Amino acid sequence: MALRAKLLGTGRAVGPTCLTNEDLCRIVDTTDEWIVSRTGIRERHIVGPEDGLCTSDLCAEAGRKALAAAGLEPGDVDLILVGTVTGDCKFPATAVFTQAKLGARNASAMDIAAACSGFVYGLELADALIRTGQKKHVLLIGAEVLTSMVDWTDRGTCVLFGDAAGAAVLGPSDDETGVLSTYTKSNGELAELLWAPGCGTLRRLSPESLENKDHLIHMQGRHVYVNAVKCMADATQQAMDRAGLTPADVDLLIPHQANIRIIEATCERFGFPLEKTMINVDRYGNTSAASIPIALDEALEMGRIHKGQVALLTVFGGGFTWAASALRI
Ligand code: ACO
Repeated sequence: MALRAKLLGTGRAVGPTCLTNEDLCRIVDTTDEWIVSRTGIRERHIVGPEDGLCTSDLCAEAGRKALAAAGLEPGDVDLILVGTVTGDCKFPATAVFTQAKLGARNASAMDIAAACSGFVYGLELADALIRTGQKKHVLLIGAEVLTSMVDWTDRGTCVLFGDAAGAAVLGPSDDETGVLSTYTKSNGELAELLWAPGCGTLRRLSPESLENKDHLIHMQGRHVYVNAVKCMADATQQAMDRAGLTPADVDLLIPHQANIRIIEATCERFGFPLEKTMINVDRYGNTSAASIPIALDEALEMGRIHKGQVALLTVFGGGFTWAASALRI
């Protein structure tokens, strides 16, 4: 039995088409000033219909990079977990398409539908399975092509999202490095504040459901904002408490990149200076489940966090779901 799971390697892939705020001004009635001041977003990378890519393509690219960084082969992976709500198709899981693309023939594979929180939810699962010795190497991916579910006539949502995948390879740790704590929570009573209600068994695919745009993202932004601030504070505190940490012990806060104002509110609440916080929402927008792992991968690449230091991941998303994890690199 291992003490905990640790990070062996990370990787990321982003949509090939860059969409700036100026580009969006040509699609909906908005301005660069409005988008930047309300969200902090300047551009996002998307998978356009003509790019010919699906979610598992991004997963496979990010996964390959993470495996290379870990010095492992696809055949070394026991389990592939993909956090996504914008999979390749309704079933089977995007994780199995990812498995096939990677040639990870020794793995089992499944998806986690926890919206933006999918990666951190998966981290809790991966950590538990590695601790108990059930799995040795887990490829954990957060991936989303949310722009495939965006109503491009709704300026309140279409400016927010980008497409990406972030991957991490986890393996057993017998020392102080690795997952120090995890915390996950949900509140399904508020599901309708941020959802895509169509095409399932609730509202079956029909001419009416298509007409109502039930298959696209519907969001009550103000309510989501208020809950995001409250729940990310709860998750951050819980993850620190469970690891016996104070904000001073955290070397880098890696918050969900949905909106700069939500990030600033979280920093203010705990007294995290912004220079101890990873921010890339300006370049990627909200990539949902991919947000945390691509920020983690960039933070490592940029030398914002080093071996032996503590990162605190914190996230909130549709469901509502929220989660956090303290991780010693
Ligand atoms: N450009 C210009 N004006 C806009 C735009 C836009 N893109 N979008 C909305 N507006 C207008 C509205 O029409 C409204 O105008 P009105 O007063 O004339 O009716 C006005 O701006 C205010 O609209 P609100 O929706 O109240 O704007 P708000 O200040 O709440 O900002 C936002 C909207 C940015 C979505 C905010 O609510 C927010 O950040 N919410 C959090 C939601 C979030 O991040 N969701 C992502 C998914 S969940 C997650 O990952 C956490």
